[in-house]
Amino acid sequence: MEDKIVTVSTRPNLALVKYWGKRRKGEECEDPFLNLPQNSSLSITLESGKDLLTKTSVVFSGKLSKDEFYLDGKKQDLEDKELQERFLAIKKLRELAGVNTKALVVSYNTFPTASGLASSASGLAALTFAASKALGLDIGSERLSEITRIGSGSACRSLFGGFVVWDRGRKPDGSDSIAWQLFNEDYWHEITILICITTPKKKKISSRLGMKNTVESSEFFKLRPKIAEAHLKQITEAIKKKDFSAMGRIIMKDAMNMHSTMLDTMPPIIYLNDISKEIIYAIEDLNESEKRIVGAYTFDAGPNACIICMKSDKAKILSKINEIKGIERIIEAKVGSGPKLLSESESLIDIKNLTPLQNKK
Ligand code: DP6
Repeated sequence: MEDKIVTVSTRPNLALVKYWGKRRKGEECEDPFLNLPQNSSLSITLESGKDLLTKTSVVFSGKLSKDEFYLDGKKQDLEDKELQERFLAIKKLRELAGVNTKALVVSYNTFPTASGLASSASGLAALTFAASKALGLDIGSERLSEITRIGSGSACRSLFGGFVVWDRGRKPDGSDSIAWQLFNEDYWHEITILICITTPKKKKISSRLGMKNTVESSEFFKLRPKIAEAHLKQITEAIKKKDFSAMGRIIMKDAMNMHSTMLDTMPPIIYLNDISKEIIYAIEDLNESEKRIVGAYTFDAGPNACIICMKSDKAKILSKINEIKGIERIIEAKVGSGPKLLSESESLIDIKNLTPLQNKK
């Protein structure tokens, strides 16, 4: 096989109904590495110009003696257990292609890595999307989502733009736990997302470990899958009707429901900080005074708030939020598109030497 560099760009996604907790072996799951979720989830893909983007080049070559992975200019240790788990997706793709050639992967993120914004989602989606193309595999996005999920659960939703559902599925082999597009990025232009960075620091406990602890120790979590599935039904209806108030209420309820199971974990997981709480109070205050849902907040596994609102209410939210001290940066996003194949000139790999191209993002 001729060495072929494939370069792609992908975007993170923001879950409006969250994924938190995997099925364990025997719970309609034959292998925990499949990352099979306890409940279905729904996300929007985020687009913010040159911010919030992953760019990745992949090449498989017989000249490589082992896999190599460079992230944001730094060579990564592929002996690391978590990275090895994530690279299982590549192993799966190799099996499908019937090859054993090693890969060079060069990747850049244009947003704070591991800050609670899901850089792993766009990163893993970029990796499998680019790798499947580099291996010449002709598989559709839904099928690819099954493999991407093995790298990181939430990553399977970044294979699509717009509003995306990840079905829980029932089969122990995970073949029905796939992501699909509910509506594309052009469906609801008025939706705006304000991402308030309250700290760019790396989070204390990874989602992977956090959700494992929650499944093992939280009593509240036993209620979570049923609640999340109900939220998914309700939010799908709200999105179909473009009913912002109904959608906003579910977004906030679902985020807080997930965080309550984190708090009920032993030892407790507390991702929100004082500024996150100030943001919750400010939005509640605004919604109360306007007697409608002007904005809806949500938080992933970190303290950064994402506020979803209509474009026409953006100024109102910003003026309220700007009263809060300590927000480091606000990134504005819209509902964005799925992965893109980039041209050869955008490659991050020097094909002659099979090394990362310096100073190229
Ligand atoms: C809070 O997808 O990062 O962002 O499957 O172990 O890689 P792994 O976890 P990950 O978890 C994301 C959790 C979340 C909620 C969500 O995105 O649905």
